[in-house]
Amino acid sequence: MKKPAFLFVCLGNICRSPVAEGVFRHKIIESGLGDKVQIDSAGTAAWHVGKAPDGRMIDAAHARGYDLSRLRARQAVAQDFYDYDFILAMDRENFSNLQEICPRDPRAKLVLFLDYAAGCGEQEVPDPYFGGVDGFYHVIDLVERASDGLIESLDL
Ligand code: 4NP
Repeated sequence: MKKPAFLFVCLGNICRSPVAEGVFRHKIIESGLGDKVQIDSAGTAAWHVGKAPDGRMIDAAHARGYDLSRLRARQAVAQDFYDYDFILAMDRENFSNLQEICPRDPRAKLVLFLDYAAGCGEQEVPDPYFGGVDGFYHVIDLVERASDGLIESLDL
């Protein structure tokens, strides 16, 4: 059977979705499921394609035990809806931009990532790009909760 595949998507693929990819991968490996799933991230915009994550997010993630340094940004494409089982949007704008490129017969289920962070009081992962360092840690808190919820929901 093909491995279940997860794609995390934000706007630039340099702040929220790379840390979601890194945190989810870390937790999947800790759960002993490292060889059972496929994980990637992408941005709806092409501005940062080929770049490493934002240095502020690399530093915040490193302080919390996650290594994002080898990730590189790419843009989400229609083919992703055939290649992935779950596409996890960080906010509603990402969600609607993804709906616009979604083919008629997708394999992927498109969801808001924080649907898996029940009780956290937020529905969207806020964009930290134009704010202070606290925003980056808040993103990590949210993606840790949602990653735990997503892993609990899986039947692997
Ligand atoms: P991300 O954050 O969507 O979490 O990667 C952003 C990154 C870059 C920009 C905006 C948001 N930007 O305007 O370049």
